[in-house]
Amino acid sequence: MIWAQSAGGIIGHDGSMPWHLPEDLKHFKELTLGSPVIMGRKTWDSLNPRFRPLPGRRNIVVTRQETWAASGAEVAHSVDAAIELAAASADSGAAVSADADATGALDTVWVIGGAEIFSSVLDHADRVEITEIAATFDGETVAPALDDEWMLAATDPVDGWHTSSTDLRYRFLRYENQEPQQR
Ligand SMILES: NC(=O)c1ccc[n+]([C@@H]2O[C@H](COP(=O)([O-])OP(=O)(O)OC[C@H]3O[C@@H](n4cnc5c(N)ncnc54)[C@H](OP(=O)(O)O)[C@@H]3O)[C@@H](O)[C@H]2O)c1
Repeated sequence: MIWAQSAGGIIGHDGSMPWHLPEDLKHFKELTLGSPVIMGRKTWDSLNPRFRPLPGRRNIVVTRQETWAASGAEVAHSVDAAIELAAASADSGAAVSADADATGALDTVWVIGGAEIFSSVLDHADRVEITEIAATFDGETVAPALDDEWMLAATDPVDGWHTSSTDLRYRFLRYENQEPQQR
């Protein structure tokens, strides 16, 4: 999983992210490029139409709507079906994209939100990359709480915070699940 959250754990407001943090977008791209990404339909809707599907990645969108379709999106009607679809990349060894910059591994599947989808996969995921922003924002969509099975594995920077070109302070945190459950 990968998400960015405010100091209060907010990840979304009115269908989008309530901040502009270009360094986080760059980090997100570096980590996910080349790997399949799974997202809820509302997260797909939140992406700027000019930048979706996210290039260089299979975009798998989860929806309960039988007839939902969007150019560049592979549709799944359950989270399990989305993971099966994503796993097909690894099984076939098929290239996700011809993008020469793609560095992501085919055996990594990224769940990129939003809150509803994170909650569904939380117990099964083995790792989460969190960009923590040292500021509070209004919002109604909240990151899932990580219980004791999740251990902090890395922080960047090791101490303190980065400062964005937008003046926001932020840091990258990696948590690992000590006991991920099989689906
Ligand atoms: N800060 C971050 O890193 C970050 C990352 C991602 C998203 N966000 C923000 O989070 C917000 C969106 O999150 P959200 O929690 O409201 O929505 P979401 O998780 O993106 O999407 C929810 C939708 O996914 C589908 N869905 C969920 N569970 C399903 C299941 N078990 N089976 C089939 N379909 C399922 C449904 O689509 P249908 O209604 O079509 O059936 C549901 O309405 C936005 O504000 C976005 O900007 C922030």
